[in-house]
Amino acid sequence: MAKKVQFVETVLRDANQSLIATRLPYDKFEPMLETIDKAGYYAAECWGGATFDVCLRYLHEDPWERLRKIRAKMPNTKLQMLLRGQNVLGYSHYPDDFVKLFVTKAVENGMDVIRIFDALNDVKNMKVAMEATVKAGAIASGTISYTTSPVHTHKKYVEMVKELKEMGAATICIKDMAGIMGPKEAYDLVSAIKDAVDLPIDLHTHSTTGLAFMTYLKAVEAGVDIIDTAISPFSGGTSQPATETMAYALRQLGYEVDLDDACTKKIADYFKGVRDEYIKDGTLMPKSLTTDTQCLTYQVPGGMLSNLLSQLKQMNALDRFDEALLETPKVRADMGYPPLVTPTSQMVGVQAVRNVLDGERYKTVSKEIKAYCRGEYGTTPAPINPEIQKKILGDEKPMTGRYADTLEPIVDKTRKQLEGVARSDEDVLSYIAFPNLAEKFFQERKEKEENTATYSIVEA
Ligand code: CO
Repeated sequence: MAKKVQFVETVLRDANQSLIATRLPYDKFEPMLETIDKAGYYAAECWGGATFDVCLRYLHEDPWERLRKIRAKMPNTKLQMLLRGQNVLGYSHYPDDFVKLFVTKAVENGMDVIRIFDALNDVKNMKVAMEATVKAGAIASGTISYTTSPVHTHKKYVEMVKELKEMGAATICIKDMAGIMGPKEAYDLVSAIKDAVDLPIDLHTHSTTGLAFMTYLKAVEAGVDIIDTAISPFSGGTSQPATETMAYALRQLGYEVDLDDACTKKIADYFKGVRDEYIKDGTLMPKSLTTDTQCLTYQVPGGMLSNLLSQLKQMNALDRFDEALLETPKVRADMGYPPLVTPTSQMVGVQAVRNVLDGERYKTVSKEIKAYCRGEYGTTPAPINPEIQKKILGDEKPMTGRYADTLEPIVDKTRKQLEGVARSDEDVLSYIAFPNLAEKFFQERKEKEENTATYSIVEA
């Protein structure tokens, strides 16, 4: 019997985040939700990552309402979100009561699959979210943040996967956020995980370096069950490989693909128009759609290169770019080889620039790097260079436990604080995640309703 390969459509989240900074409002994709629902996807990734933040910050949408509206239009397809473990959707660690309530409410509002990761691959930062997901009756997808370094061996990844299974993972995701995984690495890593656990494996990569189609194909040959793709007009470059192209190639090779071609064609035709609008108004930049192999040479993700450039430009030090670029992998090694994903990528990049411009390494460090050296982000893949840790911390002793254990519960306190303002626990959660944005949003919502109320009186 032909082996079946399933697809996660990313146009509603990652593709739109990678290409147009998550600026797709609900109304722009609403006309396609019923078609996506009928197309035969394993899941539609539609929430988490930056969507929550951007809904409140730029789109004037309640992210919870967006989720409920998507759910109502898509009763048959699993909805999937991305969640940064103990950071949930933010950049710092939250108390457990917030993590648990957030996961519970996400599932209540319609989420089926929660993809949970940690920037350091420290599973103790994933445990509370994993267990809450299982308890809420959703699929916990235990996720590896994929990176390469002398300490990131297949053996280590396999150990991590076993721990995630213990925590209740129903599927495993390998998340290659920088698109640096090559076809051989994909084949070998998927094979190693398949040998160790009997869970479905999902591979997530980006087309940034141009490796992605080959990487997916070899992963499929090694037995990967699910791949993440984007409908063709929103595919390629910093986004995912195209859904229709992968489906075509896999069918030709004898794999079973459940996608309905009439549906994917309709979705593609529609999103071509949307893409062209964003190209016209400058939101979608041509360079996001091209292939960039720089990160294969420097082992630095594409997003970090542009951050380095803009930092140096601000400091009028563009001529130091080559030095900063060489310094980046050294800082990463000093810090115990963290995967370069938010927030570690920013922390390492900023430090590399400081080391170069100060003329002395670690003369000044950010408060984030200090907290990182104190162990507040979790256990690093390799030990932090002890000399540098000492230089940064002085006599202060780093912690070995879980940072969230030191945090006071926050939910009840915030409920009380927001009495008369928050209308639901969802509001309370939005506020804890993004206090300033949520406050502004509540105010706007109230004003909008008051205006509508006035109109209806006049009309009556
Ligand atoms: Co991604």
